[in-house]
Amino acid sequence: MSDRRPFVGGNWKMHGTLASAEALARDVASQTSALSGVEIAVFPPFPHLERVVSSLSASTVHTGAQDVYFEGEGAFTGEVSCEMVKDVGATMVLTGHSERRHVLGESDELVGRKTAAAVAAGLVCVLCVGETLEQREAGKTDAVNERQLRACLAGLGPSDAGRLVIAYEPVWAIGTGRTATPEDAQAAHARIRKVLAELLGSDAADAMRVIYGGSVKPANAGSLFGQPDIDGGLIGGASLDASSFAAICEAAVATEGVG
Ligand code: PGA
Repeated sequence: MSDRRPFVGGNWKMHGTLASAEALARDVASQTSALSGVEIAVFPPFPHLERVVSSLSASTVHTGAQDVYFEGEGAFTGEVSCEMVKDVGATMVLTGHSERRHVLGESDELVGRKTAAAVAAGLVCVLCVGETLEQREAGKTDAVNERQLRACLAGLGPSDAGRLVIAYEPVWAIGTGRTATPEDAQAAHARIRKVLAELLGSDAADAMRVIYGGSVKPANAGSLFGQPDIDGGLIGGASLDASSFAAICEAAVATEGVG
């Protein structure tokens, strides 16, 4: 039995206003305050980060950025550094989200540089990987995940594992209402953990959280999180509603220690 503590993240994407972000943060904090045994984070848009950090200051819910640039500072118009994220009090970051890869055109190499910079800066980095529908239909799910992991974790070692969470997010399941079956997701997660063992060592791989993302809702969270290698979720649409998000966090608590 694993003693990995489940992780549930809310990816708010490009939604909301300062006022709605603050209200959502407060509601998430109050509706999850009784839950122990799950690590919870929210990822608001950059302009809302500081206000969300302060709204969550009395709670155990972490705040993270949705992206970061790998350079420390300089002439990089529009970009945000790890130090800037830390300076406003955020402690986590997403890298390689499929919308960054497929809408904004980020390469494995760029995602790898961002991931390495985030880890080196002491942020907890949730690295997202996952295949498109075309890749899945061509039977390439495991190969794509492996390629992304190898490229994006290059240069990182066992001592970095404590600052890494891997999110498996099949692109065809994100925002579509289509979810991988718990069995398919488990198979992909088990493969991902095997690759992590090769890259970072088996102790690190056993200790790391590999979470699932893609149309997770209160109704399907339990069956996904009940799989032995699924250690929680990265939640998009359902994270914009505090009670749905809290119900998903509860489902993670209920399955704690199953794996
Ligand atoms: P979704 O998004 O829950 O809306 O499918 C998940 C994600 O993109 O992280």
